[in-house]
Amino acid sequence: MRHPAPRRTVVLLIGAISLAEGFSLVRLPPTACGKTSTSSTSNLSAVKTSSETAPAVSSRESKANEESFDWHKQWYPVLSEKDSDPGKAHAVQLLGKDLVVWRNTEGRWSAFDDRCPHRAAPLSEGRVEKDGSLLCAYHAWRFDTDGKCLSIPQSDRGGKDETNPRACAKLYPTQVAQDMVWVWGKNGPDAVLDSVLTKPALVSALEDKKGIKSGRVVPGVVTQRDLAYSWETFWENVMDPAHVVVSHHGLMGKRSMAKPLDLEATPQPAMTKEGFVVDNNSPQFGAKQGVATFVPPALVEIATELEDGKTISLVQYNIPTRPGWSRMFNRQLTITPEVVGENKGDDNKDKKRAPSLLQLVARISPVKLKLAPNEQRAWIQHIFSHMFVHQDMPLLYHQEKIMASSGHTGAKWSDGIYTPTTSDKGIHTLRKWIKKFGSGGPPWPKGYDTSLPSRHDNPDVMWDIYEQHTKHCTACLGALKRVEQCITAAKVSTVASLTWAVLRAASAISTSILASPGTPPSNFVAAKAMLPGVLLMLASLKTTKMLGSLRRMFYVYKYVHQEHD
Ligand code: FES
Ligand SMILES: [Fe+2]
Repeated sequence: MRHPAPRRTVVLLIGAISLAEGFSLVRLPPTACGKTSTSSTSNLSAVKTSSETAPAVSSRESKANEESFDWHKQWYPVLSEKDSDPGKAHAVQLLGKDLVVWRNTEGRWSAFDDRCPHRAAPLSEGRVEKDGSLLCAYHAWRFDTDGKCLSIPQSDRGGKDETNPRACAKLYPTQVAQDMVWVWGKNGPDAVLDSVLTKPALVSALEDKKGIKSGRVVPGVVTQRDLAYSWETFWENVMDPAHVVVSHHGLMGKRSMAKPLDLEATPQPAMTKEGFVVDNNSPQFGAKQGVATFVPPALVEIATELEDGKTISLVQYNIPTRPGWSRMFNRQLTITPEVVGENKGDDNKDKKRAPSLLQLVARISPVKLKLAPNEQRAWIQHIFSHMFVHQDMPLLYHQEKIMASSGHTGAKWSDGIYTPTTSDKGIHTLRKWIKKFGSGGPPWPKGYDTSLPSRHDNPDVMWDIYEQHTKHCTACLGALKRVEQCITAAKVSTVASLTWAVLRAASAISTSILASPGTPPSNFVAAKAMLPGVLLMLASLKTTKMLGSLRRMFYVYKYVHQEHD
């Protein structure tokens, strides 16, 4: 289909600039929605070359200036691609806006305003149809991946109503990178061009495909999790290494390991609107050096170099969803330094790599685990991540509400705290960036209620793993289903083993009576006969209890510091 002239100009311009910038522009949609083609946003699939995706602040420094950071002209990760059901429409929040994010049958992800142009029903309640369209569940209007209305069942005007610009869903640029679906923070006439010209904050090590294939770079598993505290509070926590051994007592060190930490914001690269770097000169756990790089709006990468030369890179993404809430994506990378000549035979090494313990268990398990190896690892990693997150949860959930209730927000934030040591340098550097470049924090839509709830309103919401993770995660939903099957099997086993024990006892007693008529059978005979069944029953009960504890990790997990010595 021929593009109207203004749109063609925009597309050519994007193509030319993209090539000049070194982008590999994969595809632009053939047409925009209806007659709004010159002003509607279009989806895109722009993937950057590896050299451009490095999040290092230094590579961006030359472009940085003293202008304030534009929160809306940015890429935000909104979904873990591997764990999101491609057959469903996903409700997502970003900067206070409600979006629907979905994938068509060709594998292309789209993001629209979560509002049907017909009568404002949420499109996230709709259905992804077999023909690759998104169907509104209210009156069955259908939309294609570009937001174009494909059909209005109630219309008989030969397509005239469908092509009216007012029938379009409002589209945001979208792309998939590093196992996450990313959405541009804005729609409108300039969104396509701006989004192509802006880099998402990716992790350079994850672009090392050869290193990943050889096992030199272990990419880890992405965990997506909604959190009942704000973007700012999340980043304060991440930029605060002093809390790790205290708050994560038992999982990462012990409270007794707390010690002075020498943190410093690096003078080079200096803080710009593109981010900043904080060095931890006294990392723990035998590490040589810790470096935290903040790349707004959504990434902190904490690289910790170990004595053996390996680097553990904790990659944390967080997006502001609504006041008092944020969405986290984390993963942990292990990077082994490349040795000259190491690459020889990498492919063979990859083929010969020994299966993991989990893969071996899955192979020999009597219960068929219909999980790919990655999925097996994913749900276990997700549970571990919840355990870790929930140690911080009661502190952060209440902390920001305590600060808000005393009026210590925004410019008055520092009046509410006392931070005499260098261990708090990271949070001060973060707040400095927010004040200097970030306009005081994520912007919310005009008229939006930005107040936080009272800390006493409904604090138990913070523990709700099912709502904040499981229901969005195909790996965990699959694992939960199998855990429930195993619980049923364990319960059946409990009843069956008890029945078996009783039958064995009855049989032993009758045998004893027949062998010695007139002599009452001894209790020992019955007890001995019952023993195997009773032991099996106890084992089944224990298994049921353990599986019940595991099942709870998919729903609710409450962590109380006072209960953990
Ligand atoms: S509100 Fe969506 S089709 Fe009517
Ligand atoms: Fe999960």
